[in-house]
Amino acid sequence: MSTARNIVVTYALPYANGSIHIGHMLGMIQTDVWVRFQRMRGHTVHFFNGDDAHGTPIMLSAEKAGISPEELISRYHQEHSKDLNDFGIEFNNFYSTHSPENEKLASAIYLELEKNGHIAKRTIKQAFDPEKNMFLPDRYVKGECPKCGADDQYGDNCEACGATYSPTDLKNPISALSGVAPIEKESEHYFFKLGDFEAMLKDWTQSGHLQPEVANKLKEWFESGLQDWDISRDAPYFGIPIPNTKDKFFYVWLDAPIGYFSSMLNYAAKNKDFDFEAVVKKDSAIELLHFVGKDIIYFHALFWPAVLTGSNHRTPDAVYAHGFVTVNGQKMSKSRGTFINARTYLDHLNPEYLRYYFCARLNHSLDDIDFTEDDFTQRVNSDLVGKYVNIASRSANFIVKNFDGKLSGELDKPELIAKISGEAENIAQLYENREYSKAVREIMALADLANQYIAEAEPWKKIKADETRDAVQGICTTALNAFRILTIYLKPILPKIASEAEKFLNLPPQQWQDAQNTLLNHAINPYKPLLQRIDPKEVAKMTDAEQQAATEAAAPQLSNPLADEINIDDFLKVDLRVAKIIEANPVEGADKLIQLKLDLGDGVTKQVFAGIKSAYNPEDLAGKLTIMVANLKPRKMRFGMSEGMVLAASGEGPGIYILEPHDGAQPGMRVK
Ligand code: 2FM
Ligand code: ZN
Repeated sequence: MSTARNIVVTYALPYANGSIHIGHMLGMIQTDVWVRFQRMRGHTVHFFNGDDAHGTPIMLSAEKAGISPEELISRYHQEHSKDLNDFGIEFNNFYSTHSPENEKLASAIYLELEKNGHIAKRTIKQAFDPEKNMFLPDRYVKGECPKCGADDQYGDNCEACGATYSPTDLKNPISALSGVAPIEKESEHYFFKLGDFEAMLKDWTQSGHLQPEVANKLKEWFESGLQDWDISRDAPYFGIPIPNTKDKFFYVWLDAPIGYFSSMLNYAAKNKDFDFEAVVKKDSAIELLHFVGKDIIYFHALFWPAVLTGSNHRTPDAVYAHGFVTVNGQKMSKSRGTFINARTYLDHLNPEYLRYYFCARLNHSLDDIDFTEDDFTQRVNSDLVGKYVNIASRSANFIVKNFDGKLSGELDKPELIAKISGEAENIAQLYENREYSKAVREIMALADLANQYIAEAEPWKKIKADETRDAVQGICTTALNAFRILTIYLKPILPKIASEAEKFLNLPPQQWQDAQNTLLNHAINPYKPLLQRIDPKEVAKMTDAEQQAATEAAAPQLSNPLADEINIDDFLKVDLRVAKIIEANPVEGADKLIQLKLDLGDGVTKQVFAGIKSAYNPEDLAGKLTIMVANLKPRKMRFGMSEGMVLAASGEGPGIYILEPHDGAQPGMRVK
C-alpha cells in the first residue's frame, strides 16, 4: 500500500434550530463511509463536525420558544449528537460554533484580514422593522414582486417569476416578523474584499480541488465579478461580536466554517497527539477535505479559501459536494408529509439499512438521490439479506454442527477466494473516488459468485452421504472466507453488522489488508442471524408517523386556543336542550344582564340571567329558540336564581351571538 496519509475531514455543520433529517444523513453517511474506509486502509483520519449555532433564525426560534438562544442550541446539540451517533457517524469531535474557541479564532482571523487590508467599511441602507427594532434579513421582508406583481414574495427573489432583487424593491413591503411596513435605515457595515483574491481563486478553483462540474459553474461566477461580501450584522444578533466595534456581529457564514477549526482546536486540547497548528498553518502537509451539500458550494469554494488565504492559513485540498435527497421524486417537504426526520427513521428501522441504501445510490456527482419506500425495501432485502448475509446463513451451521465449529485446513475452491480478494484494490479505488454505487455493485457481483458456488456445491446434499460428507467442511470454509472478505469490503458502510460478523467469525476488527488472508483451521462461533429482512409495514409506519406529525403541525392554530381535551362521557354530562325564549326583560341595576324565561317543553320553564345586553334588546328576543345548558346547578344571584345557561358565541372583539337551532327544532329536544 502507498505511504500512510494524514487527513482531516469535515462535514457541513448542521444548523442548531432544527432536527437532523435524512437529507443531512446522506452527506453525513457519505463522509463517514469515506473516513471509515481510509482508517481501514491504515491512514490517520480525524473527522470533525459540530453545530452551526449563530444567526437571526436561531435568535428568532429561541424567542418564539420562549427560551434563550443558548438553551435552544444546547437542546439541539444534545439531540443532534445522539441522532448522529445512533446512525454510526464516528466523529472525533462534535462541537459548536457558539464556543470560546470559535470566538477566539474568528476574531483573530478577522483582525488579520483587517491588518492585511481586506476589510472595507461602508454605510448602507437596509430594511428596518420599527416595531421589532431590528434590521431585517432579506427573507424577513415580504411584499409584491416588483416585476410580475405576485403577492407575498420574499425580499430576495420571486417564487412566481424567478426575478431576483433587493427587499427595498418590493412593492407594499411588510416585515414578516411584525407585519408593519419596514422603514429604510442606514448603518455602517464591514465587508470582506473578495475581489482581492480573484487571481488566487481563479487558480485554486481550476486546479483539481473541486468536482469538474463545480469548477465549471464557478467560472460563470467569475464572469459576473466578485462582489465584496457583507460580513457584519447589527444588534440584536446571536453571534460573535466584531472586535473593536459596538453592537456589530459577524454574519453567521463568516464564523460557520471557522467552526471546523474550533472543533479541531477543542479536540486538540484534550488529545495531545493532534497538532492543531500543523493542520491550519500555511502550506500544511496534512490533507484538509470538506464534504458539503451542493447548495453551499459558494461559501466553501470562494469565501472560505479566500478568507483562509487572506489570514495566512492553508487552503483546503478539496471540497466535495453532494446532491439532495428527494422523497418519491419530490423535494422533501414537511407540509406534504415527505419529510423524514432522523429520529423517526431510527424509531422504526435499522440505521445500517439507510447507510446501505444511500451508498448503493451514491456516486461522485451532484445528482439528487430519490428515496422511495419500495425501492429502499427491495434493495436492502435483495442485496443485504438475499445475497450477502445469505452466504453465511447457508454455510455456518454445517461447520458448527458437523465439524466442531472448525474451518478446514484447505479451501475447496481457492480460485473463488482469489477472485474475490483480487478485487480489493479495484473496490478501494472506487471508495477513494466516492464511487460508492459502483463499489456496491462490484461487491454484490462477488456475492452472486459465492452464492452460485454454494448452489452448485450443494453442501446440504453432500452432508448426507458418508463419501461426500468431509467435502462439506472445505465447501463451507470457502463460503465463509468469501463472506469474510465481503464483510471487509462492506465494513465502511455497515460498521455494526461487520462487527457482529467479526464476532461470529471469531476475528479481531478487520482492516482492508486482511482481505488478502485466508482463514483456515480456525474455530468460529455459532451463527446468529446477522440481519432481518425489512418489513414493509415498518417502513409504512415510519412514513405514517411523519405524515401524522405534518398534519398536526399544519393544523390551523386558533387565536383563542382550545381548552383541555375531555372524553365523551364528560361531554354527555352536559344536558343541552332546545329552549324557547318566552319572556325577556331588562334587569334593574345590572347593565349587562337580561332576564330570560325559557320554555323547555312538557310545561317545564327555567329562569336564566344572561350577560347579553350589550348585543340584544330584550324585546327582540321573545319567541326565539336557543340552546341552553339545562342541568347546570342553579346559582343564586343578586336578582334571583339563575337556573341554567344560554349558549352564545363571542370572540376577542365586541359582539355576542346567541345560538339558534335550524327551523323545526322543538323546545325540550336534547342537543348532542
Ligand atoms: O447550510 C447549512 O446547513 C449550514 N449550517 C452549513 C454550515 S457549513 C460550515 F461552514 F459551517
Ligand atoms: Zn415575480
